[in-house]
Amino acid sequence: MRVVIEKGENEVAIRAARFVADLVRRKPACVLGLATGGTPLGMYRELIRLHREEGLDFSRVTTFNLDEYVGVPEDHPQSYRYFMQENLFKHLNVVPAKTHVPDGRSLDFEASCRRYEQMIQEAGGIDLQVLGVGRDGHIAFNEPGSSLGSRTRVKSLTGETIRDNARFFGSEDQVPRLAITMGVGTILESQRCLLLATGAAKASAIRSTIEGPITAQITASALQLHRDVIVVLDEEAGSWLTRREYYAEVERAQTLLEAGQLHELGIGNP
Ligand code: GLP
Repeated sequence: MRVVIEKGENEVAIRAARFVADLVRRKPACVLGLATGGTPLGMYRELIRLHREEGLDFSRVTTFNLDEYVGVPEDHPQSYRYFMQENLFKHLNVVPAKTHVPDGRSLDFEASCRRYEQMIQEAGGIDLQVLGVGRDGHIAFNEPGSSLGSRTRVKSLTGETIRDNARFFGSEDQVPRLAITMGVGTILESQRCLLLATGAAKASAIRSTIEGPITAQITASALQLHRDVIVVLDEEAGSWLTRREYYAEVERAQTLLEAGQLHELGIGNP
């Protein structure tokens, strides 16, 4: 895992957007896995800026969102489709038919989940999956206890997640109890994962994710099994990590390597 600790939310947004933008430039027809929630909003704003001001081209990009509430219509202001539309898609030149969010309206859950997995396969798999993390360490809606091999399916939300998401719905009883979510196994098949977290409320989940044992009780910890994960945190979210100094050292070396400044690392002649 590459752990990048930035100062604050803004720096996280800019850094994370750079990883996405680099991929879009390198592979214009790439497949992005996208997340909702408050955490990626800054990154989405930065991607919109890069599109407007630097011509970052999304016309060949395909997207798959992680999850969607069950029973919430697409045009409902709290649906994840609506969230993506408002906060990202409508500001980019992405082709609407290439943007996918699980279908929360279909009552044939099994078929629609299978179809979602199939569409990901047909698109060639996800190149970069953006992830946030819940306070209980969940990724997408893979609540504690989810199988680490799980595929796209229906999940019941925990009380904590319902309480956390009540801020978007006005009250707890309006938060849907069920969601369709990519499974942990689906997420682990992405070529690269980009996990973002900001704020002190995420410090415990981040410590468990990065430094704790791999357990279905903290589904984000399954990312330790993935060969290419970048975690971008602000100082608060990273504040419970015990190996902060080491991560900073690795990051410094990585930056110098990428810039070709090998002599700074004591390699070759100055
Ligand atoms: C929800 C979403 C997750 C998201 C999490 C954290 O549970 N399904 O994908 O990571 O909330 O949200 P936030 O970024 O608002 O803290």
